[in-house]
Amino acid sequence: MSRQPETIDLLLRRRSQLACKLVPPGPSEEELKTILACGARVPDHKGLVPWRIQIADRTNQDTLHAKLPELHEGDPASLEKTLTKEPKTAPLLLIVSSHTPSTKAPRSEQILSGAAVCQNIIIAASALGYRSQWLTEWFAYNDKVKTYLGIPVGEDIIGFLYIGTESEVPKERPRPNLEDIVSELSLSPQ
Ligand SMILES: Cc1cc2nc3c(=O)[nH]c(=O)nc-3n(C[C@H](O)[C@H](O)[C@H](O)COP(=O)(O)O)c2cc1C
Repeated sequence: MSRQPETIDLLLRRRSQLACKLVPPGPSEEELKTILACGARVPDHKGLVPWRIQIADRTNQDTLHAKLPELHEGDPASLEKTLTKEPKTAPLLLIVSSHTPSTKAPRSEQILSGAAVCQNIIIAASALGYRSQWLTEWFAYNDKVKTYLGIPVGEDIIGFLYIGTESEVPKERPRPNLEDIVSELSLSPQ
């Protein structure tokens, strides 16, 4: 493979932007196809394709957001947060869910593969000049929301990926020091 320093640069610079601050334009139809193709090209133990992606345009997002108060259960503060931070202008939402009927690979691995789908989508969107935010909040874990979206209750919503253009350049946030998270393995040979 040829060296692609611009990919490294992108990975080192990528930042999310709050979904409520995303504005149009969003990806064109052609760009969306590219983003989805990148999302579908992930490590996948046993090739089970254990994930699904739903595309929600602005109209469908509005319909979903309007339904959330009715579907919400539990802590009212979480609904309040959702309503105040509602992404009202994000042009695109991709909902990535698990699809794990097979037992050929551990279910946790199938869900991890779905996380890779989300990350690939975010990276591809960044490479095309868009910003995004990967959210779950309470609505990813709510059975009524799953049913409303046609996702089986026994499966997982892995991410609500809001994609659009930045309305302001997000500030950098602290990143872990590598020395705090990386260590040299030092095993004693038997
Ligand atoms: C699985 C997953 C779920 C997340 N859910 C939320 C969420 O519900 N609310 C939120 O504010 N951030 C959530 N985040 C974090 C944001 O997507 C984002 O990573 C964070 O704002 C840091 O920005 P960065 O991507 O530039 O490091 C989630 C991240 C992951 C990986």
